[in-house]
Amino acid sequence: MSLTTPRSAQAGSRAQKITVQTLRESKRLGRRLSTMTAYDFPTARIVDEAEIDLVLVGDSLGMAVLGYDDTLAVTLDDMIHHARAVRRGTHRAFMVVDMPFGSFHVSDKETVRNALRLVKDSGTEAVKIEGARLSRITAVLAAEIPVVGHLGLTPQSVHAMGGYKVQGRTHAAVEQLVEDALALEQAGVCALVLEGIPREVAARITACLEIPTIGIGAGPDCDGQILVFHDMFHLTFAPAAKFVRRFGDAAALFRDGIEAYRAAVTDGTFPADQESYHLPAAMRTQTNQVGEEASQRAADAQALAAAGAD
Ligand code: KIV
Repeated sequence: MSLTTPRSAQAGSRAQKITVQTLRESKRLGRRLSTMTAYDFPTARIVDEAEIDLVLVGDSLGMAVLGYDDTLAVTLDDMIHHARAVRRGTHRAFMVVDMPFGSFHVSDKETVRNALRLVKDSGTEAVKIEGARLSRITAVLAAEIPVVGHLGLTPQSVHAMGGYKVQGRTHAAVEQLVEDALALEQAGVCALVLEGIPREVAARITACLEIPTIGIGAGPDCDGQILVFHDMFHLTFAPAAKFVRRFGDAAALFRDGIEAYRAAVTDGTFPADQESYHLPAAMRTQTNQVGEEASQRAADAQALAAAGAD
């Protein structure tokens, strides 16, 4: 590995640290929040240096990084493992980690225990909980852990929803979403992710709340937007959803680079002499001599063996 300078010595944006207060203030000032996911140190570091406001270690890591078909198999240990790496790369952004499926479904007590583990073991500043689970969220907030809510198309409910379907398309569903959003704000969540709902519904919820809404597939009227890193950079190996915009093609970049590397190794042009370490000049002559003598001895022995065989 080529790491030669401690990262802690290089790290750290001088820009203002984003906190729960900054999130609320942004809404008041009408400043849009740019947010995205990250799952490891290098991506977190790039996201943070680009001054993205909030970095989410989403349980989408199940699909984006671990190769599962959905988020359901992701464990608390998976989340902690990735969140620790993200923590090391995140200095300015507000950091949030998803509570994975099963970690907040049994009881308030177990939910608080799991949220505490996420905070203590990863260093996250907040957790995100899918659905209008008011008693769970209230219990976590009582432990002084900030919570981000998540309504609409909540991917952990994939089977209950009968697939990944846009939500909030009937009058009753719209009213339920508005009611849930208000209840979550009342409970004390610091921001609310709105996923996979009609633009008009997201706009109405956003107008009703004092906390910022962060949209994904919810139109441009939210207070901020979030995208999954791998969706943005063509790293999903699957067709993109309607709401995804590709901001770069990392797959092509990596593929081209890897093919060039393979060609350079196989044709012997990598590594070049400038990419090799050298002995000091005096030792080099001596070592070359020893090497040449050894090669000569090997060649003599080979010739002798060949003559013997004849
Ligand atoms: O897991 C995730 O990445 C998410 C975002 C898409 C909001 O929950």
